[in-house]
Amino acid sequence: MRSAEEILNKIKGKALLAPMLATTDIPFRRICREFGAALTCTEMVSAAGILRSSSRSFRNAVFGADEHPIAIQLVVAEAEDGAAAAAELQSLQPDLFDINCGCPNDRICEAGAGAQLLEDLSRFGAIIAAVRRVSEVPLSVKVRNRGFTKQQSVRDIVRTAQDSGADLITIHARTRNTPYNVAADWTHIAEAVSVARIPVIGNGDVFSADDAFRMLRETGCHAVMIARGSLGTPWIFRDIARGDSCGIRACAPSGPEMQRLVHRHLAMIRDEFGPVHALPRIRKHALWYARFFTGTDALRREIFSVEDPDVILASTDRFFASEPDALAPDSVEARRIEHAFRERILFWTTNALQIEG
Ligand SMILES: Cc1cc2nc3c(=O)[nH]c(=O)nc-3n(C[C@H](O)[C@H](O)[C@H](O)COP(=O)(O)O)c2cc1C
Repeated sequence: MRSAEEILNKIKGKALLAPMLATTDIPFRRICREFGAALTCTEMVSAAGILRSSSRSFRNAVFGADEHPIAIQLVVAEAEDGAAAAAELQSLQPDLFDINCGCPNDRICEAGAGAQLLEDLSRFGAIIAAVRRVSEVPLSVKVRNRGFTKQQSVRDIVRTAQDSGADLITIHARTRNTPYNVAADWTHIAEAVSVARIPVIGNGDVFSADDAFRMLRETGCHAVMIARGSLGTPWIFRDIARGDSCGIRACAPSGPEMQRLVHRHLAMIRDEFGPVHALPRIRKHALWYARFFTGTDALRREIFSVEDPDVILASTDRFFASEPDALAPDSVEARRIEHAFRERILFWTTNALQIEG
């Protein structure tokens, strides 16, 4: 069986973790899974990188035996490359392959991959069909809600994807050119649902359980996929699984639980990547967890003034052990920090894309 039914049988929940470059690594995926993420996804993996035996691409594709169900996300510019990479990665036994058809990064698009695929739906369809032919597991595509030009509506995108063999489709309800400071337009998800024969996953601007329930209700999508709303707040998956009505911080763990969570997560990153490569990941996750509290300026200075993960862990431990006051959610400061986090987040990935080569 290679079908939507197969993957839906494995996805036992309504909230999935989105692929995030340099972010959805093994430690973060494990944390989100523990909180109830029903499916996780690797960082994007370059199909061309796999074919030229790039160790970084292989590293991004690897996952633990305890991580099922999991998707490997491929960045594909040529149909043959996508098929060959999927054939090669098949031995890892993912539950799903996903094709990245939404990355807006100029370098990825200039190479003909990511959101660029939506510019030419026949090429988009050919790539899906090629990967589908070799894949022994179901195939999903993650798309924007339109190409750059107006003609490619979300309906055309969904029809092409399903006719070409996709078993699942995720709609990030923005175009390539829509920045994060413009709200995702969920009506495009509802439109996709209205024409789809395959399950539709909604994505864009889910930052709380309440947002998730609203997206499910308003669009009729099968499940929601969460990216930024899980960073520093991975318990969002627990809130959704429990059906709790939660705003962004309302269901946050208590002080000691929070301290243990952050410590364990950062230690997992250190152990997974080793002292040098762990540093940028430890720094950003520490600051994402801390962003809702007062006193983060000093923590930030400490974190950026040392190069030793253990010293950063000790600073972060002290910060959370002191049970810092939470910023009032409606305060000017809290809003400023949250806006900066949501809109400038891709800054953290620029470096990673350069390294990807
Ligand atoms: C740091 C970061 C890295 C991302 N990397 C990927 C990626 O590798 N593949 C992908 O399809 N989308 C990637 N995205 C896009 C997200 O998966 C998601 O579609 C987008 O952020 C909208 O969801 P959100 O509103 O829940 O953040 C990334 C987003 C962020 C913030």
